Amino acid sequence: MTTEFYKIGSGCDADVLERAGELIRSGELVAFPTETVYGLGANAYLAESARKVYAAKGRPSDNPLIVHVNDSADASLFAETNETYKKLAKRFMPGPLTVILPKKDVIPDEVTGGLRTVAVRCPSNPIARELIRRSGVPIAAPSANLSGKPSPTCAEHVMQDMDGRIAMVIDGGECEIGLESTVIAVSGNSANVLRPGAVTPDMLRSAGIAVTVDEAVTDPAKAGSAPQSPGMKYKHYAPKAKTVIFSGAPEHVVSAICRRYDEQTAKGERVAILGLDEHRYGDRTFISLGSEKRPQEAAARLFAALRELDERGDTVALCEAVDTAGIGLAVMNRMGRAAAFDIEQV
Ligand code: TXA
Ligand code: MG
Repeated sequence: MTTEFYKIGSGCDADVLERAGELIRSGELVAFPTETVYGLGANAYLAESARKVYAAKGRPSDNPLIVHVNDSADASLFAETNETYKKLAKRFMPGPLTVILPKKDVIPDEVTGGLRTVAVRCPSNPIARELIRRSGVPIAAPSANLSGKPSPTCAEHVMQDMDGRIAMVIDGGECEIGLESTVIAVSGNSANVLRPGAVTPDMLRSAGIAVTVDEAVTDPAKAGSAPQSPGMKYKHYAPKAKTVIFSGAPEHVVSAICRRYDEQTAKGERVAILGLDEHRYGDRTFISLGSEKRPQEAAARLFAALRELDERGDTVALCEAVDTAGIGLAVMNRMGRAAAFDIEQV
């Protein structure tokens, strides 16, 4: 199939979004920008569309999709909403938060991987919202990457993975946040964080919610064989390079990384360092995760950095751990998974 590609902002945005909405409504797949990462959108009411999503991504069909709405209140069309959902929606939607709720029958089992629950998200990106509005249906959308690749944070990444596999790609520039939404399971007034994101545990607590963080977020080894969120059991975001994280005082991290870099290079490996701008590695290959003063930069750059490793053909990646405060918890969760949680304390 030929994938149509449109850059939004080129003067025919309304026509493009109208056509994209029609494609989704009629069961085709359209990739679109959100504030977190690009999504691969499908009509959430059609089982056949969900099957196309799994085929395009090469994704196991027991890994459920997030259903996107333009107005948080629309969740009640297909999910059992409750007071906690309403409280969360008022405070955090539209925005990078996904809430798991009991599902209604209108959502086919294919969308939820057979689960009785459905994940709901109301994105803040205006292109995403206008697309959902024009399609006239809720949009089921996983991240628009091939399964096992980092989520796409720009349209170029989407084309690398999806060109020829889907009907349309909408280019809306770079994603602001760069990591996928926070996923929570709610029960009563409590939330369990299944996937950390830009809505942090402290932000949820400040809304009066009791918060726990699932073990699988920081320590997948202990999490057992039945993770709450099926997506957690898959090794995600894995670059081809053997990836190791170094954690400790910055001066120790820098010297341990330099030592390992030189050892591995001497053995003929092609090595790259992922680290913060404040740290000095001489003329060793360095991919910047931004400044330690602006933790959001590491979030926005991490997935592009992981893709860059593959493009360059690096065989070893040495990464600086970042502080887990705020968005840092989400950065370390994704970096940890890229490294199969191979973390050296130095
Ligand atoms: O930021 C995001 O959430 C992006 C954009 C496109 O909105 N979407 C995204 O979707 O990251 P995906 O499919 O790549 O990740 C969805 C995650 C998976 O880990 C999945 O297992 C979990 O949410 N999930 C979805 N439905 C669930 C459910 N009913 N119960 C538990 N976990 C669920
Ligand atoms: Mg994904």
